[in-house]
Amino acid sequence: MLEASDLDDRDRRFVTELVYGTTRMRRACDHLVDRFVAREVEPTVRNALRLGAYQLAFMDVPRHAAVGETVGIAPARARGFVNAILRRVADAPLEWPTPAHALSYPDWIVERLGADLGDEALPALEAMNLAPSVTHRADGYTQDLASQWVVDLVDVREGERVADLCAAPGGKATGMAGRGALVVAGDLTASRVGLITGNVTRTGADSVVTLVADGTSPALRPASLDRVLVDAPCSGIGVLRRRADARWRIQPGDVDRLAALQRRLVDAALPLLRPGGLLVYSVCTLTDVETLGIDEHLAATWPDLEPLAAPNEPWRPWGRGALLLPHAAGTDGMFLLRLQVPS
Ligand SMILES: C[S@@+](CC[C@H](N)C(=O)[O-])C[C@H]1O[C@@H](n2cnc3c(N)ncnc32)[C@H](O)[C@@H]1O
Repeated sequence: MLEASDLDDRDRRFVTELVYGTTRMRRACDHLVDRFVAREVEPTVRNALRLGAYQLAFMDVPRHAAVGETVGIAPARARGFVNAILRRVADAPLEWPTPAHALSYPDWIVERLGADLGDEALPALEAMNLAPSVTHRADGYTQDLASQWVVDLVDVREGERVADLCAAPGGKATGMAGRGALVVAGDLTASRVGLITGNVTRTGADSVVTLVADGTSPALRPASLDRVLVDAPCSGIGVLRRRADARWRIQPGDVDRLAALQRRLVDAALPLLRPGGLLVYSVCTLTDVETLGIDEHLAATWPDLEPLAAPNEPWRPWGRGALLLPHAAGTDGMFLLRLQVPS
């Protein structure tokens, strides 16, 4: 819609902030409004109230503009109501019953990260309410620094054979090819693999071969690869700043379901490695079961693997791997585990 509009850059930024911010801070906005609303409110009116509350509480929009403009886009029959509620929101102090209201997350995410990360949970959640930065690689591909660092830490050498079992849209696969590796990039469906192909063409990373394959049973020869990257599907709790609506969609049950899939993926990846080969497991999430839990599973199932030393700050040692918290360097949150098969 923005592309089809004739808004200038400044207005585009304003609209983007309004849409992403209101989506992210939905629970906080609802709390501010619901102090003064005693009845069910229809969705279009609810959205107008959220947009107004967001501008009043979280943006530098003058009060008269925030209220007046929001009343102007509310359904005609509800304008008096929206005007009255937003004026009361503007006059009342910002008060929050819990951090989950103030930071606008579902209770379960705050509780889970509190249990898994301790004192680091609230700073991590705060950092994921900030708009993400945009970083580009030398080949023009847009990729967060955390993912670029994962590619650095896979540390491929010229001519090595590498498999990326969960590769779409191809950010890390093209990054590894750009460092001279021969990369087999697989993903579950043809449409996902199409994304890889598009990015291979755009970046000119021509040493990537794509494959539609279930990473839990890949058709690759055992002991044939120097490195295998499992950049696994995960709950995405480390990238909530980038996906404004994700916190409202992920469910607690997803975390355990994904952890089970992650265990199957790493178990399928290990036999593909030659003696001395390296398994790299990464996920853009922060929950224990998807990070330490996978490490513990690998330690129990493949006891001979040797961990590589954890990378330096801003990474911190986490089990035998390393965790990158979103507030450590303003990047996506990420977990990385590097285990070497004995020679
Ligand atoms: C975190 S994303 C990968 C991002 C990618 N490595 C990059 O850097 O651009 C996880 C991917 O795993 C894929 N996936 C999910 N289940 C899979 C499976 N059983 N086998 C292979 N890929 C799977 C998803 O389609 C998704 O593209």
